[in-house]
Amino acid sequence: MTAQIMDGKAVGAAIRREVAEGTAELRARGFRAPGLAAVLIGENPASKVYVSSKVKACAEAGIFSDKIERPATVTTEDVLQIVRDLNTREDIDGILVQLPIPKQVDEGAVLRAIDPTKDVDGFHPVNMGNLVLDQRGFEPCTPAGIMELLKRSGVDLKGKNAVVVGRSHIVGKPMALMLLREHATVTICHSRTQDLPGVCRQADVLVAAIGKPALITHDFIKPGAVVVDVGINRVTDPAEAERYFGGDPDRMKQVREKGSTLVGDVLPTAMWEKASLYTPVPGGVGPLTIAMLLSNTLKSAQMRLRA
Ligand code: GUN
Repeated sequence: MTAQIMDGKAVGAAIRREVAEGTAELRARGFRAPGLAAVLIGENPASKVYVSSKVKACAEAGIFSDKIERPATVTTEDVLQIVRDLNTREDIDGILVQLPIPKQVDEGAVLRAIDPTKDVDGFHPVNMGNLVLDQRGFEPCTPAGIMELLKRSGVDLKGKNAVVVGRSHIVGKPMALMLLREHATVTICHSRTQDLPGVCRQADVLVAAIGKPALITHDFIKPGAVVVDVGINRVTDPAEAERYFGGDPDRMKQVREKGSTLVGDVLPTAMWEKASLYTPVPGGVGPLTIAMLLSNTLKSAQMRLRA
């Protein structure tokens, strides 16, 4: 079977273009630009990269952004005060606090402090509750982006067996709820699941979001399944890369020349050989997260401006 890729880069770019058109239309009608505040705490290198990408993507979509940086030593009260200020700012439609945040800061308290109407990450309990109840609200960007990718790739979910591996609040749990809303029969698996390969083999649609490099191998995938790989894991060992990518010359060259390559939670050779449709890493799910954040920020501005 030759598997086709679901092109997250192309779908992400299309969503970003649509958002840019939406913001241009707002401005043409005399409204201010949508505004996003990104709160970055500490020195986590991945978080710094993500927040920079978000700020850059805002500029390209005509969205104003304000990056608020604080050292890793902040207290919960400091962060709560930042959030309260952002809640009252007229120029800010979306607030995101980049996770993870340092251990001494009460993450739950911070997320609960965000005005749910500005919660463009969809992590506030009110928005999580809206998702559970099929009510309108902001939805977490990564699973929302995956739903958009499946839809634009022509995947019909009705009555299908969907298996989500991973139960995080950011991806696994909301992903399962969204698949359920589209009438899939949904199973959530995790580290304690018995016979994980057997459960995964039932999946017409398999979503892997566990953060373990290439955990999902050939015997987890039903022939012809749609496979969505949310994992982003860095591989530096050439022997390991060789195993994951079947010696793919481009990947081996990357490891030699750049010192590393990225692999998802699914063994690439297994997706290539067994799936009908799959998301590559990189270029699959990654580009959709930021696209949906921009889309949520535009939506928030339209509601706040009653535009
Ligand atoms: N950390 C990992 N993913 C996300 C995300 O989507 N939003 C925020 N704020 N932090 C994250």
